[in-house]
Amino acid sequence: MSLDTSTPARTPGFSTQAMHAGVAHDNPHHSLTLPIIQTATYTFDGTADLIDFLDERMFVQKPVRQEYGRYGNPTVAAVEARLAALDGGDDAILLSSGMAALTTSLLILLSSGDHLVMTDDCYNRTRLFVNRFLRRFDIAATTVPAGDLQAVEKAIQPNTRLILSETPTNPFLRCLDLEALAALAHRHSVRTLIDATFATPLNLRPLDFGIDLVMHSVTKYLNGHNDVMAGVLVGKGGITTPLRESQGLLGAVVDPTAAYHIGRGLQTLGLRIERQNANGLAIARWLEAHPKIRRVWYPGLESHPDHAIARAQMRGFGSVVSFEVEGDGPAASRFIDAMRLAHLAPSLGGVDSLIEQPALISYYDLAPENRLALGIRDELVRFAIGIEDTEDLIADLERALTYA
Ligand SMILES: Cc1ncc(COP(=O)(O)O)c(C=O)c1O
Repeated sequence: MSLDTSTPARTPGFSTQAMHAGVAHDNPHHSLTLPIIQTATYTFDGTADLIDFLDERMFVQKPVRQEYGRYGNPTVAAVEARLAALDGGDDAILLSSGMAALTTSLLILLSSGDHLVMTDDCYNRTRLFVNRFLRRFDIAATTVPAGDLQAVEKAIQPNTRLILSETPTNPFLRCLDLEALAALAHRHSVRTLIDATFATPLNLRPLDFGIDLVMHSVTKYLNGHNDVMAGVLVGKGGITTPLRESQGLLGAVVDPTAAYHIGRGLQTLGLRIERQNANGLAIARWLEAHPKIRRVWYPGLESHPDHAIARAQMRGFGSVVSFEVEGDGPAASRFIDAMRLAHLAPSLGGVDSLIEQPALISYYDLAPENRLALGIRDELVRFAIGIEDTEDLIADLERALTYA
């Protein structure tokens, strides 16, 4: 038995769903925890059993049993059900990384000759995939400034099939008005794909605003412990069917043990994000008031260009804070090297605080003028705050800033 989320009396809260949605309460051997079905293939009792299965697969959309690891796994399916519930979708597909989620969806939603519109501030690998890889298949892209919906609409062509954006974006935390974006996309019969990795479904559910497909790098907040790579695609009303079929072809599946860890991480997602939201806001405010900090980007701050949108559509603002240190790149490096609680590392969203200079971690191979064209100055720092105590993180920042 799993949690009946359709009970009219009361819709379960976020943490209840993060614990119970899709979870069987009659596990084998009375196991409380989700069993890890660590298998690459599934056996048949004999040829008659196999033929029953093949007939069922041909005539029923979702056969009741599994056949082969690339087409499905019960541990993975249980975690997918929970992820679908958290984002308010009908279906969720777990894949082997956030990039696998993104590349699989773009390869399936777009065909040769199509065009997509994307926003400029984004994860650099997403930009590279669109501008280098998709172009080889004659799929063109127009990049418009994040937050400028007029520019999005102007960029739409007769062959535009998709609008792709993050919200909040990486690294400047720009937030898109999702209701307005979905309305304009539907007016032009264009689909929308939102990478909501920086938000998490606790803070923002893009599907509720009419967005067609949402993706997350599960590697970040959803798993939350910096020990698993995965991605997820969540949608409503059949959009995920061809994506799931293509996963069996393209092969970017998630390992059952990784899925177990993701399921365990989800159980504390609500608690972690509440703490990270609080840490993010407190630290962004503290940094904004510090004389050695030139500028802070955090959607929970009144000074952020998209604060009003973020406040209207988000429950909390997450725990990534970007800021410029007064001085140059080496000053920012000295400050980062002096931090004790935050590790110098890429990634975000986990329980450990991580800190980095985007000019080095993400854009080292770009000429400085090309980095500047994207707004990335050498003294820009991205702080991905974990669940440590706020006061300890502030004390660490205060001490380390004396080295800047
Ligand atoms: C916003 C965003 N989307 C997608 C990805 C890619 O996810 P993964 O590293 O799980 O492939 C990242 C990774 O940093 C990211 O920050």
